[in-house]
Amino acid sequence: MVKSMYIHIPFCKSICSYCDFAKILYNEKYVMPYLEKLKNEVIDAYDGKEINTLYIGGGTPSCLEETELIYLSEIIKTIKLSDTYEFTFECNIEDISPDLLILLKDMKVNRLSIGIESFNKCKLDFMNRKADFKDVQQKINLVRSYGFDNINLDLMYGLPGETLKDTKKDLKYILKLNPEHISTYSLIIEDHTMCKIRSDENIDPEEEIKMYEYIVKTLKKKGYNHYEVSNFSKSGYQSKHNMTYWNNEEYYGFGLGASGYIEGFRYDNTKNLDAYLLSKYRESEVLMSKSDMMENEVMLGLRKMEGINLQEFFDKYEINMQDAFPIKPLIKNKELIYKDGYVYINPKYIYVMNELLLKLI
Ligand SMILES: C[S@@+](CC[C@H](N)C(=O)[O-])C[C@H]1O[C@@H](n2cnc3c(N)ncnc32)[C@H](O)[C@@H]1O
Ligand code: SF4
Repeated sequence: MVKSMYIHIPFCKSICSYCDFAKILYNEKYVMPYLEKLKNEVIDAYDGKEINTLYIGGGTPSCLEETELIYLSEIIKTIKLSDTYEFTFECNIEDISPDLLILLKDMKVNRLSIGIESFNKCKLDFMNRKADFKDVQQKINLVRSYGFDNINLDLMYGLPGETLKDTKKDLKYILKLNPEHISTYSLIIEDHTMCKIRSDENIDPEEEIKMYEYIVKTLKKKGYNHYEVSNFSKSGYQSKHNMTYWNNEEYYGFGLGASGYIEGFRYDNTKNLDAYLLSKYRESEVLMSKSDMMENEVMLGLRKMEGINLQEFFDKYEINMQDAFPIKPLIKNKELIYKDGYVYINPKYIYVMNELLLKLI
């Protein structure tokens, strides 16, 4: 049964240099037509059953105007949430205001994800973003005063010119804000982004690993649980929604460029707004074979620090993981660890997990 839903709002008030998500500059004339199509897409596919995790991401969902947000909330009210639901809404810090927070409370949002990324002027200029620590602190206090007690902050590192000292400073500021959850991402230079066009280059991988190791060590010391390669949470605040992805469970994906996994089909929606507005939602869909499903189970499951439960793997696929994938040599040379019924990547090798996965799949 599908228990999770992702909804994509592609509008942004400015475009960041590194971003390859489905996004377009906010333009009032496209928003309502977009939301109308989104509503139809949801009505057509959603079976009306209880949803446990709902995630509205973007783009920048918070940049919508009040009437647009009210229309979005009407769509959301057609979705039945379970008693233990998690409902995340991505926000830009500049958009946070009492009016927005009242609307989000009314929509039953109970988790906010805010892309801070950095407080460093050079990094922010590179990204084409803004953030001022004092402003952010005030906004976070405001958010808390409206009863939001589950906040994720995103941090980016490994930008050209960044030093370990810069990363340390950014992390210190993020920690001062005391979020329940922190996602950290090293810069990926994606095609069709400003970074690619201006030929930006990644920093030395050795430096990047040092930054990652520093982040992991520091956040652990501060009481955060490192539960996925890039994600850290206080106890009880793991992202239930993202766990759906890493557990290879099915989910609805609605909106421009969204992907979903329903009844064995993985699909991607179009990233072309014109096509979307003509109700041509789907770009592609593929029926997963049993071996596709098992490969995804391994690729996604090994992102979790606890790894994959071998009994659960067997119950799902009626084959032992060790018979389906060559895990034994990797356990022997300690790239993988087997403990208490779980197989997981040795934390020492987490940063080179892609190479490790290639050996498995
Ligand atoms: C879905 S994105 C968008 C969130 C939101 N629109 C914002 O900018 O705050 C979520 C996060 O992925 C990370 N991210 C996006 N593009 C990236 C890239 N090219 N390299 C590394 N991290 C990236 C950023 O930390 C970003 O906040
Ligand atoms: S990173 Fe976020 S705000 Fe920046 S362009 Fe991408 S979706 Fe928009």
